[in-house]
Amino acid sequence: MFAPQQPSFAIANFIPANFIPANFMPILGMLVCVAFTPITLAASEGSGAPVSSVETESTAMTGEEVYNNVCIACHYPPGVGGAPALGDAEAWAPRIAQGIEILVYHALNGFTGSTGVMPKKGERLDISDEEIIKAVEYMVGQVQDE
Ligand code: HEC
Repeated sequence: MFAPQQPSFAIANFIPANFIPANFMPILGMLVCVAFTPITLAASEGSGAPVSSVETESTAMTGEEVYNNVCIACHYPPGVGGAPALGDAEAWAPRIAQGIEILVYHALNGFTGSTGVMPKKGERLDISDEEIIKAVEYMVGQVQDE
């Protein structure tokens, strides 16, 4: 009944070919043609143009990058607020003795220990668990002999 294309078709039908005499006003005739071309094209194309899917690039950081971006704020030697400093074997030894699972759990969920408060994910909740785990492994790796 009232299809969207109907009005533009109707307008086209109401402008007879001899409405603009080609020998009288050729320039006006061209302008009208140009003006109507986009309308006809738009009507025939419709609005269902497929939108290309945006690929989500993996931007996962390495453990070292996470440390340098986040954890460094407190874990940079000598350590802020009671945080065990990077490379401080003495500070890390009793922590590592708990097992890596506990360290990871504390880094992911936060914890209050005997020296201070480790905030959940170092206050960067947008960082993935995997990246936090890699950062813990990186810090532990700095005090363990390979
Ligand atoms: C706002 C300061 C702060 C930031 C940022 C921070 N930490 Fe900590 N972290 C601490 C403090 C303080 C402790 C020591 C808490 C205690 O034992 O009393 C700690 C302890 C730890 C421990 C030892 C846990 C344990 O069981 O002994 C690990 C592992 C750790 N942090 C990992 C991280 C990682 C990984 C990041 C970066 C994603 C990070 N931290 C960012 C303050 C911070």
